[in-house]
Amino acid sequence: MTEDLTLREGCQGTPPLSARLEPWMRELLADPDTCSALLEQYGSPLNVHDFAALPRNAAELTEVAEASGVDLRIFVARKANKTLGMVRAAHRAELGVDVGSERELLQVLDVGVPPQDVVVSAAIKPAAVLRLALESGSLLVLDNLDEVAAARRVAEEIAAARAGATAARDESFPVALRLAPEPTDLIPPTRFGESARTWLELIDGGMLGGMLRVDGVHFHLHGYDAIARAAALGEALDLIDRLRERGLAEKDAFVDIGGGVPMSYLDSADQWDAFWQAHDQAAADTRDLPLTWRGDPLTRVYPYHQQVVRGPWLRALLHHEIRPGTTVAQALRERGVQLRCEPGRSMMDGCGMTLARVIQRTTASDGVPLVGLEMNRTQCRSTSDDFLVDPILVRTGGGSPSDPSTPLEGFLVGAYCIEEELILRRRLAFPYGVAVGDVIALPNTAGYLMHILESASHQIPLASNVERHCGDLSGDANGRGAAPEHRVPRFERDGIDRVMPIRA
Ligand SMILES: Cc1ncc(COP(=O)(O)O)c(C=O)c1O
Repeated sequence: MTEDLTLREGCQGTPPLSARLEPWMRELLADPDTCSALLEQYGSPLNVHDFAALPRNAAELTEVAEASGVDLRIFVARKANKTLGMVRAAHRAELGVDVGSERELLQVLDVGVPPQDVVVSAAIKPAAVLRLALESGSLLVLDNLDEVAAARRVAEEIAAARAGATAARDESFPVALRLAPEPTDLIPPTRFGESARTWLELIDGGMLGGMLRVDGVHFHLHGYDAIARAAALGEALDLIDRLRERGLAEKDAFVDIGGGVPMSYLDSADQWDAFWQAHDQAAADTRDLPLTWRGDPLTRVYPYHQQVVRGPWLRALLHHEIRPGTTVAQALRERGVQLRCEPGRSMMDGCGMTLARVIQRTTASDGVPLVGLEMNRTQCRSTSDDFLVDPILVRTGGGSPSDPSTPLEGFLVGAYCIEEELILRRRLAFPYGVAVGDVIALPNTAGYLMHILESASHQIPLASNVERHCGDLSGDANGRGAAPEHRVPRFERDGIDRVMPIRA
């Protein structure tokens, strides 16, 4: 039996959706003692990170940009993962960081990321965020007219405090304009930003003031469509041209296309297709065992399998013609405009995993088998209806406080006192049963799933976060140079756990 089968055979979806696993994940999952010891030390659930994949993920984008002659700058979206380890890893890889709140910004600056490597794209910007962004010299993305008025006031206060009202006129603060691209069949309407016309009217009306210095244009689109982004980028470049006619965004100008770079959680397109066939069939024929909780169909889900991700996706975008005979890459090059992006999820691919302890095996009053975990459903959740990736069962064997159950097919449930407290909505098969004390691992959760919706409801603490480092005395901090047998992984609590309320 192959190592992979051994790893995956204890728990599978019906039908299976096998997670793409990084080598570090396989190594940890093959070590039940360490999994148990980590949960013992840090509590359940536990988010384990290893950011070795981050520079590789980013390089997939930069290599394609370079080959297309495009100057690309990546700002990793911090909202996808709250750890300070992620910020440090991004900084080590010479990437910038995109922040969505005052705390995110404060922490990023505290970690030592220089302000010129920070973009503040927060959806709502209270005065404190505006002040910190402008005072630090981070790039502020202006979203709407009220925000411009507020930013102007803060900029004037800062300048006055710094140099006195007269000298203050020389002060300038870098900003980008958030463009709401014209909605089309391809580009969905957005609540963010303003149209190019509104921005130009604002500028022509002198409403931007003299201190907010427009260096570029920003947008972020819902979804992952490269061609929609190419169209929006064309509109953003037109806006850059209009700004330049007005003496703005002349030097070092950029267009920032936000996030939405796709990734794939599953290797097998066949599994993905088979799952949806079974899903649609189950909706038509209710005699079979339901595939999902109470047979509820899944309607809004992330495309957990995608063929074209990161590098090839960017290539499709850059090589798309925005006008007959002119590709996106050419249009950027001709104008000397830098391309920026703020990918979150696709940069966290392979960087994290959530471990949880099995607490109980029960059945619903109609006989549906349930496996109770020491976690709640906000600890692996995004805006998607479900996380369509199979968990891994780590048998803790001698360490388990119970014998395994008989084989079962059922659902993972959690700690909140509501009927639909499901960790995953798909029916899972445990062909060798499951024991109290076993560990369930949810693979590849670092992008959003472990953090974006987590709550401390019921006064249950948020999950702890640790980072796995692999090094020893004969290698560098990342274990490079060390002989494989000397690369001993260490797990260290992430600094964010001291800021946010977690288990004592
Ligand atoms: C402004 C902005 N930038 C970047 C991102 C990151 O997107 P993703 O994680 O899909 O790459 C988001 C996500 O909502 C966003 O709103």
